[in-house]
Amino acid sequence: MKLGFVGLGPMGVGMARRLLDAGHPVSVFNRTASRAAPLIEAGARPAESPADAARDAEFVFSMLADDDAVEALTLGKDGIAEGLASGATHVSSSTISVALSRRLAEAHGARGQGYLSATVLGRPPAAASGKLFVVLAGEAEASARVRPALDAMGQRVFVLGTDPSQSNLLKLSLNFLIFSTIEQMAEVFALNDKGGVAPEAVFEVLTNSFFDAPVHRNYGRLIVDQAFEPPGGSVTLAAKDTALLLQAGDALGVPMPMGSLVRDRLLATVARGESGRAFAAMARRARAAAGRPSARGGAPGRAGAGGIGQGITGSGVVA
Ligand SMILES: NC(=O)c1ccc[n+]([C@@H]2O[C@H](COP(=O)([O-])OP(=O)(O)OC[C@H]3O[C@@H](n4cnc5c(N)ncnc54)[C@H](OP(=O)(O)O)[C@@H]3O)[C@@H](O)[C@H]2O)c1
Repeated sequence: MKLGFVGLGPMGVGMARRLLDAGHPVSVFNRTASRAAPLIEAGARPAESPADAARDAEFVFSMLADDDAVEALTLGKDGIAEGLASGATHVSSSTISVALSRRLAEAHGARGQGYLSATVLGRPPAAASGKLFVVLAGEAEASARVRPALDAMGQRVFVLGTDPSQSNLLKLSLNFLIFSTIEQMAEVFALNDKGGVAPEAVFEVLTNSFFDAPVHRNYGRLIVDQAFEPPGGSVTLAAKDTALLLQAGDALGVPMPMGSLVRDRLLATVARGESGRAFAAMARRARAAAGRPSARGGAPGRAGAGGIGQGITGSGVVA
């Protein structure tokens, strides 16, 4: 199946590589051309523009930062829509707004082109190893034809239905669950640390009892270790996603008070100059609000409080 791929950031480069490794011919385009080099070495065809990447493709994927980038590289000059043949399909994997997804479906439809949303869960290492979870929505026949490509990129493909924008709505919702879980864990870590229970001990109990989902294990670990770089998913991306979630809530008339709280935590994290860090860095806000020191090995918690953590690492650690 002839494919195109537009957007070779941390996610896109791994996804495009999986398509090549599965034996598909792939044309690749990235604004910063140097990022395409390893893929070209692996056999990809360098494209001069998004239109060029789309020209001979049955499916052209895009994996770009945000709404502005996706709109410009799809509907702008030399964009995907200019090059894509009638009957061929644009598969959008970026985390974008519900509203833009609808506009893209209409614009492609007006040109006789197809449009699918295949949003993804998983960080860049999952993209590189084909372990993403893919949430697919759009026209059924094209969805069935694109499956071999999606199977090369994901460990599981969930098929939602025929309205592409529903994939975007669900993806934004799932990200919100990650961010709000980080906020909850950050408050619990801060509370317990101040009460003398070390974060490592809290983490051990959480993840070996009722809170052992990958979200608790992976992001809880990042918070305990204060491992906020390299970002994987950055604070900037999380702030963007949360703004889009609230936009969707506005449009559908659904209040999301916890979404607003998460948005404010992320805004505060950006305002403190941490936009390039991993989004779990938002956990630092709850800790700071509790008056706990920001650096590892800072002032201890209640000395001699004798919490479960005392025997493991002592206190005064994290975020
Ligand atoms: N990182 C994650 O953990 C993760 C997980 C799931 C989904 N996502 C979503 O996947 C998408 C891609 O994320 P990412 O982490 O790969 O990196 P990213 O930094 O969000 O996006 C990088 C890509 O977007 C391009 N780009 C940005 N602005 C552009 C513009 N104005 N014009 C043209 N190209 C532009 C970059 O080109 P240059 O190389 O030239 O800068 C690069 O190809 C985002 O929507 C993100 O929310 C990310």
